[in-house]
Amino acid sequence: MRTNARLRAAAMALAMIASAAATAGAQSDQANYDEAKVGNFPPLDPLTTADGKKVTTPETWGKVRWPELLRLFETEMYGRIPEAARSIRPTYQVRSEDSNALGGKAIRREVTIRFTSDPEGPRMDLLVYLPKRASAAAPAPAFVGLNFGGNQTVDPDPGIALGRTWTRPGKGLPRERHTAAEKSRGTAASRWAVERIIDRGYALATAHYEDIEPDFDGGYRYSVRALLDRDGKGRPAPDEWGAIGAWAWGLSRALDYLETVPEVDANKVAVMGHSRLGKTALWAGVIERRFALVISNNSGCGGAALSRRIFGETVGRMNRSFPHWLCANFQKYSDREADLPFDQNELIALIAPRPVLVCSADEDLWADPKGEFLGALGADPVYRLLGTDGLAVRQMPRTSRDGLVNSTIGYRIRPGKHDVTPDDWEAYLNFADRHFHHGSQ
Ligand code: GCU
Repeated sequence: MRTNARLRAAAMALAMIASAAATAGAQSDQANYDEAKVGNFPPLDPLTTADGKKVTTPETWGKVRWPELLRLFETEMYGRIPEAARSIRPTYQVRSEDSNALGGKAIRREVTIRFTSDPEGPRMDLLVYLPKRASAAAPAPAFVGLNFGGNQTVDPDPGIALGRTWTRPGKGLPRERHTAAEKSRGTAASRWAVERIIDRGYALATAHYEDIEPDFDGGYRYSVRALLDRDGKGRPAPDEWGAIGAWAWGLSRALDYLETVPEVDANKVAVMGHSRLGKTALWAGVIERRFALVISNNSGCGGAALSRRIFGETVGRMNRSFPHWLCANFQKYSDREADLPFDQNELIALIAPRPVLVCSADEDLWADPKGEFLGALGADPVYRLLGTDGLAVRQMPRTSRDGLVNSTIGYRIRPGKHDVTPDDWEAYLNFADRHFHHGSQ
């Protein structure tokens, strides 16, 4: 009896320890939303080199610090695009053209960009809208952005081909490629303001991001990244591109196509993205200098938000949930943000002196609006060194529906949740008008 009692007591003690450990584990994985607990890290100065020298001229920025930071972001975070990617020679095929789209205001064109001769291999279906009034003599500036659910979600027009999606045919089964459902038509229309973009004299090009790489751990094998896996290792090297790198590469391919369209002013192409695609837009803006303007919407962790602030999503949370987004080297910074040799303000600084707009939403705490603002502010010294007006405010502006700090680094925080709204598009258009010297601005 006494032995049994002791065993029971020991079993109970073990159970209590296990449950305490589980609770601690769950708690340590709970997001912090308390400003008092974000950690006290001084912001990193983009104008101090790795060996502690102060950068004081645009020349030193361009020759020393810019390449140094770029290399760090490439090898430690987003992954570098392998040289062999240059061997991919995309071909274009116009699938459809409607010269009377949007009630006659626009030309709508669908172009398949093929990355390989294999009909089953990755390809990107680009949906392009051109304002009818644009011409080779008066070409339109353009927005390029990836969409989440397929081109048919962007506008209810039944003429848009249904895209492909990646879902599981049943519980526990692997994901498969399907044609998107009819009922998905127009479901993301509120995020794309297509008619407004055309009315303001801009072109738009968009593609489904999963055309380039399906967004799940293992999607690699259906992606452009796998096209380069010639040694059959089944994964890129630890410093080579993750899915975000692949999506950013796809944005450059959309830009290549726009360069062939006489009605588009390829010197005035803005890249825009929301959330994980906002992270992608920032990275695309860094590695693709042909993008003249960059917009990140609610991009949060891995985007505009400072990683060193422990608020909302953290590097560890992101790495665990989405191990395929960034390069394998980035995994070592999970829950070790202080070890990062850079922070996201320095990513934004790499876009300088080109205009960049960071947009937050006040209910989108997971993306850490304050961290996004500080990311924008922390890029300011570089923008000023390069002769621009940087970010025109020092304090986070008040939340407002139509607010916009419209300096070369732009910032906006609107009321509401994680989303892209028609008001956001007004802000993007106002920002682009100013910096492209377009429209009435
Ligand atoms: C998740 C993820 C974010 C990402 C977002 C999105 O919330 O944690 O990092 O930005 O999805 O892409 O919608």
